[in-house]
Amino acid sequence: MKILFCVFSGTGNTKHIAERFLQGLRDLGHEGDYCAMEKGKEPPRTEGYDLLIVGYPVHAFNAPKLVTRFLKSFPKGNIPFYLLRSEGEPSKLNDASGISPRRILMKKGYVPAGEFTYVMPYNILFRHSDGMAVRMEMAAEKRIERDVKLVSEGGGEVRRVNFLRRAAAFTLRIEHVAMPLLGKTFHANKQKCVGCGACAKVCPAKNITMVEGKPKFGWHCTGCMGCAFLCPKDAVRISLLNPWRVNGRYSFEGAPAEDGEVCNYLHTMYVNYFHESEEL
Ligand SMILES: Cc1cc2nc3c(=O)[nH]c(=O)nc-3n(C[C@H](O)[C@H](O)[C@H](O)COP(=O)(O)O)c2cc1C
Repeated sequence: MKILFCVFSGTGNTKHIAERFLQGLRDLGHEGDYCAMEKGKEPPRTEGYDLLIVGYPVHAFNAPKLVTRFLKSFPKGNIPFYLLRSEGEPSKLNDASGISPRRILMKKGYVPAGEFTYVMPYNILFRHSDGMAVRMEMAAEKRIERDVKLVSEGGGEVRRVNFLRRAAAFTLRIEHVAMPLLGKTFHANKQKCVGCGACAKVCPAKNITMVEGKPKFGWHCTGCMGCAFLCPKDAVRISLLNPWRVNGRYSFEGAPAEDGEVCNYLHTMYVNYFHESEEL
């Protein structure tokens, strides 16, 4: 099978999962190409591929605006597609984030084959402990092993989303309007910013330009947090969201968190997710 991966990732989690997934498929003898979704980039040609896999992080129980925009620019096609998501918490509410991407691709003729989700450490809200990050990575590995086989055999399923979850996600789609406005008020702390331009380089929305050695934020922020998360000096301030800013890559090395060390926030949900993954 020849597979096209089309992936959006703000801070690297989804990219990491998608690359690992692609490697798993290659190990099973399939061919695959990887395309990153970025603003202004030409949509990929899907002809010649047998399968499409679209990867993205969950933002406010939805797919990021840049993702839905990008998918709208896709050519028509009739191959099966899977959705692959990374999310900060194992919540069923996140399943609603598949609705818009699926609808857009189905309108173009693509055929839904299933969806896969992986919990990865938060890049906003709060910083997970290193042990949690390691345990999430280990759980994702187990799931990828299972899911790669499923894809290879043509299996998979689309998750049903009940009315209440749909309604909650629909309400939070306000994020698509709010983020560009909020993003315009992001700024770099004058004392901390060294003008290295890392924020502009990582921004998939091409929303940051360097003016006189300092970042200037435009009107197209998609809220991925790449600028704040990856700034080497922790200089980027994210306006009203600043109390929930997370800075610095997770290391994914060291000992995994024991059950008793799992965060208090949604503790039981995370523990259940880990146990379920570990039993695979
Ligand atoms: C603006 C924003 C909103 C988010 N909303 C959710 C959410 O609703 N549910 C969730 O589980 N994770 C949420 N997350 C966490 C990310 O989905 C998670 O950290 C993901 O792994 C990041 O992937 P990336 O590194 O590829 O960007 C949100 C992150 C951001 C930046």
